[in-house]
Amino acid sequence: MNTHIRRAEPADAPGITRIIRAAWQEYNPDVFPNVIPKHMTFVAERGEAGIIGFVDSFATQRDEDDAEIRWEVDWLAVDPKNHGHGTGTALIAAATEAGRAAHATVARALVRIGNVASEKAFEKNGYKPSPDMLALYISDQPLKELRSVADHRQSYLITVNRLNDTAIWIEGEITDRVLQQARYVIGVRGWHAAGALIPRSDRKLLKLVEAEGYKHVANYRQYVLRY
Ligand SMILES: CC(C)(COP(=O)(O)OP(=O)(O)OC[C@H]1O[C@@H](n2cnc3c(N)ncnc32)[C@H](O)[C@@H]1OP(=O)(O)O)[C@@H](O)C(=O)NCCC(=O)NCCS
Repeated sequence: MNTHIRRAEPADAPGITRIIRAAWQEYNPDVFPNVIPKHMTFVAERGEAGIIGFVDSFATQRDEDDAEIRWEVDWLAVDPKNHGHGTGTALIAAATEAGRAAHATVARALVRIGNVASEKAFEKNGYKPSPDMLALYISDQPLKELRSVADHRQSYLITVNRLNDTAIWIEGEITDRVLQQARYVIGVRGWHAAGALIPRSDRKLLKLVEAEGYKHVANYRQYVLRY
């Protein structure tokens, strides 16, 4: 039976949610149908099984003045019953082409350390692993008050509407101020979490992020493709 890759539609939200729950038991609320048309989300369909995998991708910029468009391949999963038939590789290819069409300069994805299937699927699409191992830290605990704000020329708070939550990604210079500001903003806006990726080798920064109430989730490597 052939697998067919197509752009997702809002009506595919329950099918994508089903795949997420099959792949990850932890935090996984329903996918928002209204986010799908704003992203480049693709589903893989296989005969009567219906949706057997998906990938979500979208553009981000550091700030409004930044000329560089980065293409985030944010989420990828294939139903465990259908692994190993090239579906993951084909979904990444579709997301990567969407980034090229959007004139992104770079496409990137975070792959958890030890996820060999994902590493291979990205490498087969021309992505290269970055040398640094990165620790993902997140906080879903809002700060009620903010005493000072971060320097917006150095530190960036990027709002990311993901398929099932809205989060803030902290980029650039990671300081106590920007870490506090991100926690404050998620409270004001009612968003799910703020997160930052910290090089594992930077012990001082790891300590700072922990002192600011962020919790370690897992370690990742970034896979990058330059268009
Ligand atoms: C990662 C994932 C999407 C890959 O999907 P898939 O359809 O099985 O991928 P492909 O069939 O295209 O396989 C890609 C490569 O990984 C290999 N592979 C697949 N499963 C593997 C496993 N369990 N261990 C080692 N290698 C594996 C394949 O053999 C293939 O390499 P090859 O062409 O050299 O043989 C799938 O494993 C998955 O959903 N995992 C859980 C969710 C997840 O980790 N998502 C990625 C987040 S970045």
